[in-house]
Amino acid sequence: MAGTQQVWLITGGVGFIGANFVQQQIARGDVRIVNLDLLTYAGNPRSLDNLHDHPSHLLVHGDIGDQALVRQLLAEYRPTAILNFAAESHVDRSIHGPEAFVQTNVVGTFNLLQEVLSYWRTLSPQAQASFRFLHVSTDEVYGTLAPTAPAFTEQHQYQPNSPYAASKAAADHFVRAFHHTYGLPVLTTNCSNNYGPLQFPEKLIPLMILNALSGKPLPVYGDGQQVRDWLYVEDHCLAIRTVVEQGVVGETYNIGGRSERTNLDVVETIAALLDELRPDSPHKPHRQLIQFVQDRPGHDRRYAINDTKLRETLGWAPRETFESGMRKTVEWYLEHGAWLESIRSAEYQQWINTNYKQRMAEYK
Ligand code: NAD
Ligand code: DAU
Repeated sequence: MAGTQQVWLITGGVGFIGANFVQQQIARGDVRIVNLDLLTYAGNPRSLDNLHDHPSHLLVHGDIGDQALVRQLLAEYRPTAILNFAAESHVDRSIHGPEAFVQTNVVGTFNLLQEVLSYWRTLSPQAQASFRFLHVSTDEVYGTLAPTAPAFTEQHQYQPNSPYAASKAAADHFVRAFHHTYGLPVLTTNCSNNYGPLQFPEKLIPLMILNALSGKPLPVYGDGQQVRDWLYVEDHCLAIRTVVEQGVVGETYNIGGRSERTNLDVVETIAALLDELRPDSPHKPHRQLIQFVQDRPGHDRRYAINDTKLRETLGWAPRETFESGMRKTVEWYLEHGAWLESIRSAEYQQWINTNYKQRMAEYK
């Protein structure tokens, strides 16, 4: 990797949001990226197939918790910003096995902060002032909302309910503390549910698309009336770029889509799009595949984001509506069979059995 542009160290840049972010920055052509990713089950290198020999992108296979590696990357590439996407991100997996979430989301982020702080202290005052550590977090740290309660603002109390949310909350607190105690120039973003290309099919939207295509049941947890606030992934990436460039150091920014939908609405939208885009499918109407199954333990009922601060102080707004984004997403999955095949591993099948066998058997 060579050139005069500034370098950003991105962690977890092979995952869903990270890979979309990397693609977006490389297309803009104004930064070089060192991409540190452990390549867990969720990191599919095929998402960056077009960048493997790109002069502005370097993929490093490694752990944010590996002190020596992080130290070496900082010393060698001298980044001007760190963007921390790396995480264990699936709530259901955190219920079956929370340890990995503590390890990566809490200990890993803490390690990254420690190493970045040591590096930042070696910079000139000018370079220190313009340096940024942006931590990508979630609205789940705020807990759950009653049906008519106002949406989460940045002042909302932290009330994480799942092991995943608790691990992200703990990381957010460390990021905050490193600013207040040591002056590290941090920014934190708390975003609502993302959807779009390159999402691993353990999450609601790609799982439903894949199941519907092969005529499998569409497993809706509980009564399907839980509400999420959906944002197209490229809009999230644009928001992160806006915050890293213009955000006020030490502040947190909520990011949302103002697109609250019940899970049942989302699944019905997917079914209807597939009816239209796959008119010859033997599984039509795809809605008939919906099956209500055992609920997620501790399932948060509603998330909704108030993103006024980001919109009004930094001027960001999403480009996609829920309808346009969902159409693009379903079309993308229909057109990318090879990407999908590459993640349908034995591990994937094992996860599907772990998460759904019991749920479905009880509800048949
Ligand atoms: P993902 O699970 O798709 O990707 C996570 C990536 O991190 C993978 O490439 C994985 O290999 C990598 N990784 C995991 N452990 C690592 C480690 N120890 N060291 C280095 N890399 C590691 O996740 P995502 O959906 O892309 O989420 C990215 C970030 O955004 C996460 O921090 C998540 O909490 C946050 N977030 C996600 C959403 C969403 O809807 N997906 C919404 C808000 C915030
Ligand atoms: O809100 C932001 C969060 O959104 C991110 O921080 C997480 O990383 C991301 O995974 C997502 O969390 P959710 O738990 O909301 O996403 P998931 O896709 O797992 O589930 C969305 C909703 O759909 C949730 O209410 C559970 C429900 N669901 C999910 C699956 C996988 C089902 O009804 N059936 C399913 O099979």
